Amino acid sequence: MSKIFVSNWKMQLNYSASLKLANDFKKKFKNFSGLAVLCPDFLSLAAVAQIIKTTPLKLGAQDCSLRDQGAYTGEVSARNLKALGANYVIIGHSERRQYFFETEAIINQKLRDAQVDKLIPILCVGESLAERKVGLTKAVLKNQLRLALKNIKPGLIIAYEPIWAIGSGRVAKSEEVELIHAFIKQEARQILKKAVKVIYGGSVTAADFASFKKTKNIDGFLVGGASLKATEFHKICQL
Ligand code: PGA
Repeated sequence: MSKIFVSNWKMQLNYSASLKLANDFKKKFKNFSGLAVLCPDFLSLAAVAQIIKTTPLKLGAQDCSLRDQGAYTGEVSARNLKALGANYVIIGHSERRQYFFETEAIINQKLRDAQVDKLIPILCVGESLAERKVGLTKAVLKNQLRLALKNIKPGLIIAYEPIWAIGSGRVAKSEEVELIHAFIKQEARQILKKAVKVIYGGSVTAADFASFKKTKNIDGFLVGGASLKATEFHKICQL
């Protein structure tokens, strides 16, 4: 089964650096046969769409509005993202939960909206270090999944991103990720009545190749920092 690789550029690059990176990706991935999704910021999305149009790379957004259209200052709708050529959208990233106060109800509404507009959502879930330390990981994940996936159709991707691993250089151990992914798959299947793909995110680099190679419940990776270099992300995509 081919894996899914998502490159999350966050708010790390200005417009011209984004276009340069997209061009680097275009060169590096011209013969790529897997599924790799680039998620630039909203500002660069249209230009990146043009640059990667003739490549096997797919386009995603880092977020979308929970509304479809109307007087919602500052928002970007899933409908417009789709029209621009995006096929994927990251929803409920821990940075959005933490810094922009996104609740499970908001995340659930965004998932619905993305599905109405035929974007494939990448739902992020994950526990904090404090929750992990007191053994709450599974309870936290179960709660996030139950609330976020209410009345959601199958056909989304779940990204397990332990908050303590994001941008910290501390990758979760592959054996542990395997077990947690098995748990997430089981919970999500109960809710959605269908199998779901689960990818891992949190400080992944090409150096993790060996430890992640033999796993069976890890359907791909959501990569931040290490995906800001086309060569490094391309190496990760060989996993
Ligand atoms: P990171 O980010 O790879 O820089 O830890 C992953 C993410 O937040 O999606």
